[in-house]
Amino acid sequence: MQLPVLKGHIVSLRSFRRSDAASLQRYANDARVARYLPLMPHPYGPEQARQWINFAQRSARQDKAYFFGLEHPELREIVGGIGLKQFFCQDNTAEVGYWLAADFWGKGMATEAVRLITEFSFEKLELHRLFAMTHEKNVGSSKVLEKNGFRREGTMRKAGNIDGQWQDLYTHGLLYEEYRKK
Ligand SMILES: CC(C)(COP(=O)(O)OP(=O)(O)OC[C@H]1O[C@@H](n2cnc3c(N)ncnc32)[C@H](O)[C@@H]1OP(=O)(O)O)[C@@H](O)C(=O)NCCC(=O)NCCS
Repeated sequence: MQLPVLKGHIVSLRSFRRSDAASLQRYANDARVARYLPLMPHPYGPEQARQWINFAQRSARQDKAYFFGLEHPELREIVGGIGLKQFFCQDNTAEVGYWLAADFWGKGMATEAVRLITEFSFEKLELHRLFAMTHEKNVGSSKVLEKNGFRREGTMRKAGNIDGQWQDLYTHGLLYEEYRKK
């Protein structure tokens, strides 16, 4: 599908363009951002940015996953990413993952980005359930989910490794009926 623009008050979600490669690379190439993202390469060079943009565009075309860039309303450049993957088609569920450039942390942008993708998931894609995983030490990420109505559902014991230390991973879920009641 052609991804829509999801407009918020402090951030908008839109599809990645080839011209986003420079800002994507600049913001993603940060150990603080990559720390809790096992699939994000570090260091993150121009080639990684180009490959990611191609992958995101192809995934959307094939309806395998939907990855949006977070566009800053004043800078008009990509300052993060958020996506839906692991579509379990029969069950209409998907996993949400996201990141934001460190310069913009603590302003509510990730909370708004999750709100926008949650609305898109339930209203447009008619999903039944969303889930997300966080590392136990990633307090900010768990809070972003809680503020959007996700509930902590379980613990995968010592399932992630950060700086050589095994950490628990928390799973969080939000059902359509819970979203609708909010
Ligand atoms: C986690 C992350 C997405 C949070 O983004 P953000 O835009 O700063 O989050 P918000 O501003 O929407 O904050 C939501 C809440 O979490 C709190 N919070 C954010 N970061 C926090 C931190 N490091 N420690 C404690 N609380 C934190 C905020 O204070 C806010 O709570 P409040 O409304 O009660 O004040 C961002 O730090 C990030 O991209 N980190 C690196 C990648 C990552 O971890 N992605 C998630 C993988 S599961």
